[in-house]
Amino acid sequence: MKIPLCVPFMDNVESDAVCEVLKSGWLAHGPRCKEFEEQFAKYIGVKYAVALNSCTSALQLAIMAQGRRGEIILPSFTFVASANSIVTSGCKPVFAEIEYETRNIDPIDIEKRITKDTVGIMPVHYGGQVCRMDEIMEIADKHGLFVVEDSAETIGGLYNTGVGGSFATGCFSFYPTKNMTTGEGGILTTNDDKVKEFASTMRGHGISSSTWARERVEKPWFRAAVMAGFNYRMCDILAAVGVVQMKKIDEMNELRRKHAQYLNKELEGLDGITVPSEMLGCKHVYQMYTITLGEAVDRTRFLALMREKGVGASVHFDPPVHLQPYYVDAYGCKKGDFPVSERLAETIVTLPMYPALNVEELDYIVSSLKDALRGSSG
Ligand SMILES: Cc1ncc(COP(=O)(O)O)c(C=O)c1O
Repeated sequence: MKIPLCVPFMDNVESDAVCEVLKSGWLAHGPRCKEFEEQFAKYIGVKYAVALNSCTSALQLAIMAQGRRGEIILPSFTFVASANSIVTSGCKPVFAEIEYETRNIDPIDIEKRITKDTVGIMPVHYGGQVCRMDEIMEIADKHGLFVVEDSAETIGGLYNTGVGGSFATGCFSFYPTKNMTTGEGGILTTNDDKVKEFASTMRGHGISSSTWARERVEKPWFRAAVMAGFNYRMCDILAAVGVVQMKKIDEMNELRRKHAQYLNKELEGLDGITVPSEMLGCKHVYQMYTITLGEAVDRTRFLALMREKGVGASVHFDPPVHLQPYYVDAYGCKKGDFPVSERLAETIVTLPMYPALNVEELDYIVSSLKDALRGSSG
């Protein structure tokens, strides 16, 4: 049996939606983008959503919209795009520790790393679970810092009563491995009129209104470039996929949760592994299902055995960002700086997780894992 790490949940509805756009003649930023933005903003429970070509673009624009340069605190245990977006926005990444169990940034460590140069905090909602946002927002308010939520890996996750991406400026990814996909793509969510205006303008060359809106004013040829912007727009072909995927997001997340509960039940208590934990009062949406291995298990051997069985297990993320060559060279980061992040990076394993998994496949993952554990434990 072959079980990949992830498979997008798509059928004819997505392809029909794409064909409709192709036949319409309006392929770039247009009516499907607008529809997708309205739908997404409503789902997250904020005033605005700005559709973009990636989450990395959303993170950059969210930072730049604040108009303040300085240090931004983020976890080292994340995908490198989180830190890259800080560097490419002219700010300095300052890494903080995570909690081993939740894999998310530790609010106590955030506060320890605040200096006179700190301007913001970037919590990363790892793999489907929202960070401790009440505590993070309290720290931000106390120190006058802005917050940009990297919610690339969490679409629909809840922290108590709030949805990830609704506490501050939210940034989401629609890469194929995410809770929903448009192939490539991202979106920024906000209640702040100024952030919305900045992001909408900067995504389209710094021109202050979209092509679609411009068609409807008196002088359609007039383009007011008020900033030196980028081309970070989403096209209508992808937005049409987004519109369809949005209609399925709750169903897809519920299926992920159901599969995670099944795996938890089958794997809990096995010697050599620990299953993921869901924080009390939160809703984990399992963009990734990650376990940790005990010291006696050789992870490289374990992963090789899983792959031999056709189970696409992997690791997210090793090394942690502070040990990536660029960050070692540019910021002098070194091994030992973040022991919890480093230990997690060395012990974590991502198992296949996607909505269409069936019980036979889940059972195969479990039996393969048991065999791989036996073959890799010292
Ligand atoms: C935590 C995190 N941030 C940012 C990104 C970047 O997303 P995108 O590929 O849409 O730019 C990813 C993508 O995998 C991610 O996992």
